[in-house]
Amino acid sequence: MNWLRRDHSASKEDYMDRLDHLRKQCGPHVAAVAKDSVEGICTKIYHISAEYVRRIHQAHQALLKDCNVSDPEAADVQDRLVYCYPIRLALPSPAQPRVELHFENDIACLRYKGEMVKVNRSYFTKLELLYRYSSIDDPRFEKFLSRVWCLIKRYLVMFGAGVNEGTGLQGALPVPVFEALNKQFGVTFECFASPLNSYFKQFCSAFPDTDGFFGSRGPFLNFSPASGSFEANPPFSEELMDAMVTHFEKLLEKSSEPLSFIIFVPEWRDPLTPALHRMETSAFLRHQMSVPAFEHEYRSGSQHICKKEEMYYKAVHGTVIIFLQNAAGFAKWEPTPERIQELLAAYQVSRRALGSPGPSSAPTTLSPASAGGSGDKDSIAAKTAPERSASLDTSPARQDNSSSSNPVGKTTPPSETASV
Ligand SMILES: C[S@@+](CC[C@H](N)C(=O)[O-])C[C@H]1O[C@@H](n2cnc3c(N)ncnc32)[C@H](O)[C@@H]1O
Repeated sequence: MNWLRRDHSASKEDYMDRLDHLRKQCGPHVAAVAKDSVEGICTKIYHISAEYVRRIHQAHQALLKDCNVSDPEAADVQDRLVYCYPIRLALPSPAQPRVELHFENDIACLRYKGEMVKVNRSYFTKLELLYRYSSIDDPRFEKFLSRVWCLIKRYLVMFGAGVNEGTGLQGALPVPVFEALNKQFGVTFECFASPLNSYFKQFCSAFPDTDGFFGSRGPFLNFSPASGSFEANPPFSEELMDAMVTHFEKLLEKSSEPLSFIIFVPEWRDPLTPALHRMETSAFLRHQMSVPAFEHEYRSGSQHICKKEEMYYKAVHGTVIIFLQNAAGFAKWEPTPERIQELLAAYQVSRRALGSPGPSSAPTTLSPASAGGSGDKDSIAAKTAPERSASLDTSPARQDNSSSSNPVGKTTPPSETASV
């Protein structure tokens, strides 16, 4: 307080230094005092969550039994190499309840049993596109609305009830950065995503049961690609990031096909996170660089429903970008100085675009057939890339991860090869 009273003209750097000083001085004492109660609260939350999971599982089994659908867990999964397709739910869906849809300006409102969930119209259109690619069991879209309702409801529950609660775990890379990853390094797949925040139409996500209809290949730790170029921006959970590194190393060791992971994690060095340390010392590390705090942005975790002026927020931490590649992956997608330059330049484009129109100018008229649409570079398919679908899904689907793009709207070909 004295310091604050004394120094009226302190700059942002002074405040940051002071905060750092306080953190070092007081941090250990606060941590020691709070440790027991924080651990107690976390343990309690863990047990309550586990109990809810058990009950949901029971209800799920009862529902399947009522509909005469046999136990999915009894299904035999073979360990073999297959082309990568969205997770198809091996079971027929029980009959779906009726969900009503109406639009309020640019917002799609879905109502079920008096309860309403909302998503921006452009994202509703994106979900239509993803569904068209992935849900071959429903070519007439008869189950589409109920599946969208379940999807949004699932993420609402995951986010939590408070304003902006939980969205921090869903922050995405800016669109120009994804474009550069695709163009420079042949990336066509996100290891951590949701149907709402995915840029590519191939991605892993936390919830195969709701997200599989929209292209998810399931949780990343259960996904074993043998080849391909992947982006990974995991939720900033130390345990998950650590498990992610173990998985990368295992996959890279196992495959002699070109395999590449470009990873974006917070630059947490005080203390250094195990995941970051392990990646920085990995035998597969080909390159790493940092983007400083406050000099780059993330796309909002509520991008599917937020206002356009809330679309980006400045990162309060540095982001480390790490390239883990096996030999064939390095030969194919080497992080050369020119490519790195283009990737970093994309962060600058994204910063300049901050003031530009956001998602509400996104492809409101975009139909699955009319790729491209209008709007700014960052919110929808780049004007310069009219052959693509939506900005939210500008990814060219690839036969083989080679550099030729495959326009959206045609049959989605298999891309990475995964062993399941
Ligand atoms: C930081 S966001 C990534 C946003 C965007 N897809 C990107 O790559 O920039 C992390 C995403 O991973 C999802 N997620 C959480 N657990 C996951 C898991 N086990 N496998 C795959 N995705 C997961 C979250 O729901 C969230 O959408």
